[in-house]
Amino acid sequence: MSTQTKHTALFGFGTVGQGFYHYLAENNNDKQLATIVIKNASKSRIPDNLNFTTNVNDVFQNNQINTVVELISDYKEAFNIVKNALEQGKKVISSNKKMIAHHLEELVELEQQFGGKFLYEGAVAGSIPIIKIINEHYAFDEITEIRGILNGTSNYVLTQVFEKGIGYQEALHQAQQAGFAEANPAADVEGFDALYKLLILTTHAFGKFITPEKALNIGINNLKNSDINFAKANNLKIKLVASAKSHNNKLTLSVLPTFVDENDDLFHIKNEFNGVEVVSKNIGSQFFKGKGAGKLPTGHVVFSDYQNVEKTTYTYQHVPSGKRLKYETKESIWVYSNKITLLEKYLEDVVLLNGPQGYGSIKIADLIKAKDLLNLHQVSVIALSENVKQKLFLQLKHKIQLVYA
Ligand SMILES: NC(=O)c1ccc[n+]([C@@H]2O[C@H](COP(=O)([O-])OP(=O)(O)OC[C@H]3O[C@@H](n4cnc5c(N)ncnc54)[C@H](OP(=O)(O)O)[C@@H]3O)[C@@H](O)[C@H]2O)c1
Repeated sequence: MSTQTKHTALFGFGTVGQGFYHYLAENNNDKQLATIVIKNASKSRIPDNLNFTTNVNDVFQNNQINTVVELISDYKEAFNIVKNALEQGKKVISSNKKMIAHHLEELVELEQQFGGKFLYEGAVAGSIPIIKIINEHYAFDEITEIRGILNGTSNYVLTQVFEKGIGYQEALHQAQQAGFAEANPAADVEGFDALYKLLILTTHAFGKFITPEKALNIGINNLKNSDINFAKANNLKIKLVASAKSHNNKLTLSVLPTFVDENDDLFHIKNEFNGVEVVSKNIGSQFFKGKGAGKLPTGHVVFSDYQNVEKTTYTYQHVPSGKRLKYETKESIWVYSNKITLLEKYLEDVVLLNGPQGYGSIKIADLIKAKDLLNLHQVSVIALSENVKQKLFLQLKHKIQLVYA
């Protein structure tokens, strides 16, 4: 960062904006801040002596400003801000995962066309510097899979439900009280937030730009007490797992509640923490854990991007190789459901357990089609990881043998 003063504009002074400002002030860089754009001029602010404005022209008509830190909650306005700033060749840092997941390809093109910078580590997995890890550490090995817990709110709720035995609604209320969940938690509990983050990681790991409407996200909002009891009876937990993997030149993606057992690192990720497993061709599996959100964990990675913006350029080194990967939704997965019969017309194979409850094999594309139906009837769907499937099916075989013994 140059020593020129007042070259930075901050948009947003909420949770992340204040976290970023904390590090800016602590490192005596606050003199670089020309202005802070917010929405509501009458809100009281701490500190209150900063140059707050509601006028974006204070930024875009000020030629001294060469760096924009975009940390607002309005994703449409965030896109306008980031687009304008990149078109002016500015250095831009953002944490707006929804906006980035919808517009990443266009924004990268603008970055390259106008010679600016676009960094967004704060958009994914809170304090875990996972984009840097993928871009730098994995530059020389081929990533074959990324799977993780990328939404702290859902993980907090699931942890409370499993460990304290409280209901889903009560756990969600607690997450809101603790400041993890938003007043409107739909994006978290319906799996959209995890999907946005997964798609950003997919671009970096596999070189593909895939937009949210083309991918599968099923959240934790339809889980039933009977699902939790089923998991507990089998020594399993349910986690909201975001996964992207390549196999035979095909790339598959999903965000799904998933049964995991104690051998899985994700089993042990509690509360608002995030965990990401990266599997690559020669290194095998590596696991990263950290705080998934919050003022200082997120503010820190945003500040780190800010400090390193001159010397960091996302290289998208996997983008050319991504051309050989075909994004595929025809792959089949095994799922459990409290009402698997509802999916009857889509199932390739089915194992009924107890009335409508059971396992089924279904194409990801068909689960995308069935999403509205599942939400309408509030039916749960939980994916079976490969080792969990083997374990559950083995039990089933034993039971059948006992019946016939
Ligand atoms: N919270 C987290 O832990 C976390 C973690 C990772 C990423 N993020 C992402 O970071 C961004 C900010 O999240 P946050 O939690 O800090 O949100 P927040 O606490 O709700 O704060 C939002 C800020 O944006 C400002 N704002 C909203 N609309 C605006 C507009 N049209 N023009 C200018 N300013 C506007 C608000 O202004 P007023 O103050 O005037 O209301 C407020 O200062 C979001 O994209 C979020 O998804 C958040």
